[in-house]
Amino acid sequence: MCGIFAYLNYLTPKSRLEVLDLLVTGLKRLEYRGYDSTGVAIDSPDSKNIVMVKRTGKVKVLEDAIKEHFSGGEYSEPVMTHIGIAHTRWATHGVPCERNSHPHRSDEGNGFVVVHNGIITNYNDVKTFLAKRGYEFESDTDTEVFAKLVHHLWKTHPTYSFRELVEQAILQVEGAFAIAVKSKHFPGECVASRRSSPLLVAIKTKSRLATDHIPILYGKDDKKQTSDQDTDSGKPQVLPRSDSTSEFMPEEKEVEYFFASDASAVIEHTNRVIYLEDDDVAAVRDGTLSIHRLKKSLDDPHAREITTLKMEIQQIMKGNYDYFMQKEIFEQPDSVVNTMRGRVRFDGNAIVLGGIKDYIPEIKRCRRLMLIGCGTSYHSAVATRQLLEELTELPVIVELASDFLDRNTPIFRDDVCFFISQSGETADTLMALRYCKQRGALIVGITNTVGSSICRESHCGVHINAGPEIGVASTKAYTSQFISLVMFALVMSEDRLSLQQRRLEILQALSNLADQIRKVLKLDSKVQELAKDLYQHKSLLIMGRGYNFATCLEGALKVKELTYMHSEGIMAGELKHGPLALVDDSMPVLMIVLRDPVYVKCMNALQQVTSRKGCPVIICEEGDEETKAFSSRHLEIPRTVDCLQGILTVIPMQLLSYHIAVLRGCDVDCPRNLAKSVTVE
Ligand code: AGP
Repeated sequence: MCGIFAYLNYLTPKSRLEVLDLLVTGLKRLEYRGYDSTGVAIDSPDSKNIVMVKRTGKVKVLEDAIKEHFSGGEYSEPVMTHIGIAHTRWATHGVPCERNSHPHRSDEGNGFVVVHNGIITNYNDVKTFLAKRGYEFESDTDTEVFAKLVHHLWKTHPTYSFRELVEQAILQVEGAFAIAVKSKHFPGECVASRRSSPLLVAIKTKSRLATDHIPILYGKDDKKQTSDQDTDSGKPQVLPRSDSTSEFMPEEKEVEYFFASDASAVIEHTNRVIYLEDDDVAAVRDGTLSIHRLKKSLDDPHAREITTLKMEIQQIMKGNYDYFMQKEIFEQPDSVVNTMRGRVRFDGNAIVLGGIKDYIPEIKRCRRLMLIGCGTSYHSAVATRQLLEELTELPVIVELASDFLDRNTPIFRDDVCFFISQSGETADTLMALRYCKQRGALIVGITNTVGSSICRESHCGVHINAGPEIGVASTKAYTSQFISLVMFALVMSEDRLSLQQRRLEILQALSNLADQIRKVLKLDSKVQELAKDLYQHKSLLIMGRGYNFATCLEGALKVKELTYMHSEGIMAGELKHGPLALVDDSMPVLMIVLRDPVYVKCMNALQQVTSRKGCPVIICEEGDEETKAFSSRHLEIPRTVDCLQGILTVIPMQLLSYHIAVLRGCDVDCPRNLAKSVTVE
């Protein structure tokens, strides 16, 4: 999804070229979110105007255009205070092109320029309102109305501060957004806000910040409503003006602020961040940051915490790998250990999940467990459902968030709903969370992103601690989500005598997992050879059942999103109910056949395929000669306990999709049309 990055230096001399460099680097860090065009806005050399550069395509294209555009010496003069804003756009309204790229401007004089992530759903109404007042629109986007609305308010309310103008504009728009606004009428100031789309403010000062929170300010409601003179009925109304005076100021004068869609864009500058909440308005004026609330609510805290990020810059660099996805696949021996670190004690066979431990008695009394997510996160729920049923002895329902929202699904106060999301910002999952929360269910978040919306809106949860995942295709997050849910199942069965043997078997297997993953990763060159056989085909069917059905779904998703080839994950038990008709000597098939309770059934499926002249690639257990005899192409994985097989079988699928994507010349880290964090419904 779109990425926002803004940089404000206050009494910290920086040339415009340096600012541009910072903006471009910020955008590069956000590239993984998925985008199709880019843009930046900075002050002109005389500081009387705003200059914008926008390009379709990659940040590199923008970077080259910037080098061309800003070559003059005037841009290398240091300026004490300046604000630059930048954006990567993932098209929702209007095709990817320069005209539709952000920043969008309020008028020909570039009075106000805006970058936006999300969708303004009532943009047509606002557009009609503004068009009647003479505004002409130059893009097809919803964002442009926001810039023009701020301009309109500025003209009609000349005494309003920059923040007040933006606040008033926000009160007129509906939908989801994160925005950052810059204005030539308010030099050195920046105003940013969010509603359902992520946004953080990062603070950099020379010495340590003397505080760990910023007070929240509210507009006074005792002012008379100021009505917009030329507001038609049914059109945007200007609501009561907020008028707050209290402010937060850093100890020292020199300060730099960063506004960004996520922490990976700021970590190389500072680790001190404030995650904005919905309807927060953050404004910087004279180097002072203030956070305001649009509406007062009883359960609002009095301050926003300044969080210290634990992330390291190396975690978001590619290192020696060609692609982030490749790096993230190979990180899995470590990331699975990080998920278990401090939680699983192999010597005492004990597991403590600090984030949910106080809720376990309540969870044990629940009516049912619901696991809700999208894409890969949903697959992690499919992968662990069987074990959760076995170890919790509760009904377990798995739901795709989008489908869940399409139905008026009954939810009860004694339901426990798990929301699984790598980013913690997926709009469908977040909406489903709010739906369940309103109905009184206990909300458990399983996320990889500390400070994300799902984290903050859950009653309790588990951070999967897989480390930043940059490649759009989710890999290490899947295996860590998988393990988090397995750990939860183990916690739930702690006091069940009849399950102790089973628990020990799983714990033992967890302790060997990192080494076994390392072994599976050694198949890389063999998988690459296999990819050479497959990459020119149009389709790949992936079959399995039981604990490995989720691997089929996840493998097929990886192949589709990375290689643009058709692929389908097929429940082997369903083969004869339709998919078998697809099988002949030319259809590529991959089958997972492991020595577990469904082995015999899988062998039946294998025979059905080979007797239709299918020549499947088989994923089987090391040394299983009987199974290998059915095909000349196989990938052997180490033996583990049945419920963890899915972790080992998914890795060859991740590698296969990666190699096919490389061979087909696809953009591995940013597949076409996709975004890392899907913040629109
Ligand atoms: C996985 O490779 C996908 N890119 C996608 O399915 C992803 O898992 C899905 O959009 C959910 O994202 P989340 O985990 O951040 O909620």
